[in-house]
Amino acid sequence: MKYSYLSLFFILLSCFQFTTCFAQDKKIEDKVEALLAKMTLKEKIGQMNQLNGRMPSEKLYQQIRNGEVGSILNAENPELVNQLQKIAKEESTLGIPLVIARDVIHGFKTIFPIPLGQAASFDPEIVEIGSQIAAREAYEKGIRWTFAPMMDIARDSRWGRIAESFGEDTYLSEIMAVAMVKGFQGKDLSNPASIAACAKHFIAYGAAEGGRDYNLTNITQRQLRNFYLPPFEKAIREAGCATLMTSFNANDGIPASGNEFLLRTVLRKEWGFDGVVVTDYNSIRDMVRIGFSEDNKDAAMKAANAGVDMEMASGTYLQNMEALIAEGKVEQKTIDDAVRNILRLKYRLGLFENPYVNLKVKSSIYSENHLQAAKKAAEESFVLLKNKNNLLPLKNTIKTIAIIGPMADASHDQMGTWAFDGEKGMTQTPLKALQKQYGKDVKFIYEQGLAFSRDNNKTNFSKAIEVAKQADVVLLFLGEEAILSGEAHSLAEINLKGAQSQLLEELSKTRKPVVTMIMAGRALTIEKETALSDAVLYLWHPGTMGGPAVADILFGKAVPSGKLPITFPKYAGQIPVYYNHDKIGRPAKKTEILLNDIPLEAKQSSLGTTSYYLDAAFDNLFDFGYGLSYTTFEYSNLSLSTDVLSKSDILTVTVDLKNTGKFQANEVVQLYTSDLVGSIARPIKELKDFRRINLKPGESKKVAFKLPVSKLAFWNINNIQTVEPGKFTLMVGGNSYDVLQKDFTVAP
Ligand code: BGC
Repeated sequence: MKYSYLSLFFILLSCFQFTTCFAQDKKIEDKVEALLAKMTLKEKIGQMNQLNGRMPSEKLYQQIRNGEVGSILNAENPELVNQLQKIAKEESTLGIPLVIARDVIHGFKTIFPIPLGQAASFDPEIVEIGSQIAAREAYEKGIRWTFAPMMDIARDSRWGRIAESFGEDTYLSEIMAVAMVKGFQGKDLSNPASIAACAKHFIAYGAAEGGRDYNLTNITQRQLRNFYLPPFEKAIREAGCATLMTSFNANDGIPASGNEFLLRTVLRKEWGFDGVVVTDYNSIRDMVRIGFSEDNKDAAMKAANAGVDMEMASGTYLQNMEALIAEGKVEQKTIDDAVRNILRLKYRLGLFENPYVNLKVKSSIYSENHLQAAKKAAEESFVLLKNKNNLLPLKNTIKTIAIIGPMADASHDQMGTWAFDGEKGMTQTPLKALQKQYGKDVKFIYEQGLAFSRDNNKTNFSKAIEVAKQADVVLLFLGEEAILSGEAHSLAEINLKGAQSQLLEELSKTRKPVVTMIMAGRALTIEKETALSDAVLYLWHPGTMGGPAVADILFGKAVPSGKLPITFPKYAGQIPVYYNHDKIGRPAKKTEILLNDIPLEAKQSSLGTTSYYLDAAFDNLFDFGYGLSYTTFEYSNLSLSTDVLSKSDILTVTVDLKNTGKFQANEVVQLYTSDLVGSIARPIKELKDFRRINLKPGESKKVAFKLPVSKLAFWNINNIQTVEPGKFTLMVGGNSYDVLQKDFTVAP
């Protein structure tokens, strides 16, 4: 009940803040034109320059005075923000305010689970509330623009930034991206507590070869359209995302900051984007290293002509643009259009009227409703991967519990990557929360075992084993430190580092039941660890309130409902793994001969001709959409309103869902379709919709979906987005493979 009050509070606040944008638009355009008419070329170029304010200096102040800076990133100190704005407003010729930007990725001070964890909730409502809270807290410090959400499709857990993504699925990423943008921006950008969002990284950055960050990508235009672009399109067209960031990578040889086709044809013409395109950090300069540009001047020319409005950090516009205009290499109109976009953003943010931070406002940072929302988000993000003999929730007959492991009390690491402003002193860890919330009824004994996730020192193993022997159950917290995921932090092996696996092995020899909980920024290869554990709960990096959320889940006050937003491989060598891959001609039959069964000197042809690994078979460890509950759900009576539809129809799908277990719980009901034949190979299945349904024990509900046939459209062999008539299979279930299914036909 508490949560619906929370949602209501935000809904009311948004309604209260609502003003019509249409009335404003014409006024804003007039103001933009009037101001543009007064600007010198130098001042225009200055607006296109974003500098780092981390170490403010007299040089920076002077540049602001000179009108050489349009935006500052990383000035999160409100006094500094006011000082910089004062210089811009009062000491520069035109008094154009700066827009202050910062990476507010999954919370500002109150840290929410990493975005990958938030995606596991399959709950856009809590994701929207989370970014509203982040915006409110950041706004208090003068931040008016965040570089989030990241909506890169990520199919490779070696890539450290998968933590920052919504996972492998396009549809789930669309839904989460839209929710986050709405949360950050509110109904109107000029409202207090609204900040501009940024759709990043455009494009295909998550497909870096080998998971190596910043690496090249080779995604075809059709794949971009079918898999990578839709979250950006939805974030812009549905949620009105105010800005977009070009990525570091060159896709098919073209760096994103120099890709005119994507920035002008797709983004501006097809999607009608009128916001700001900013580069990623120094990425114009990086075009020289890529060998796409001769020097910084050439890079600046290519970026401006491709459609980049604002340059982050590298300053090549400031240094070269006047000359490029004089030489006729960049047109004046290109600059004017870029500046229009930037000024439009500043007017939309209300910065001209209200550039300063009000230092007297009562702070909402870490307020109780912020913490409770972060706790709810963490609870919903946890994925129960195994629960042998219903070990969880812990029974009240349990008197003594051993808490072991390097992540049980890791207040910094539990916040995860990109938690710039999070404070470890405010993090509530599982150890502290369990002791505080349940310490009266249960005796907790703690032994860390390993000092940190990469620790190989086994000196304290004996102590951990002693502690385990005294307990009725072992709660083992493993995983990876925050620094092991995130930007530039890729891994070749995605296993548990240090001696963590051996610690679990030793503990399992005590024959005490072991609940392994894993805090990580990616999918880890945990086949062996899953087998050695009685229960496995995947926590991602859960943020400030991870501890209380874990405590309530373990004791059954809350029930796990998260589902995997990425496929878990058994081995890193299987990567990329993702559920919605195109069909192939020779799929595995699942009866293939594996390495140890191959007879000596077997003939080449004796193993058959299907797609599998001799040493790893074909299975993943856990599939997309998978996640257990403390209760069980039964799906029955899948029914379609019709089995023949036209392209403009809407299919109604119903299914009966029954809670057949003993706990009231949420189930994420997932709807997939498969296009059986297409003008190009089609994915084996694709998520098209989902619902979170709450049921009491024994309760049933008829769950209904409306599936417009238009949702089956894809970019086909002629590069046209269309629904191709023919047969489809519709599937509904609690994960991507265990489904009820029915066929239907789309008529020509
Ligand atoms: C990252 C961006 C981020 C920017 C500013 C870059 O290194 O790739 O995602 O927004 O830095 O901090």
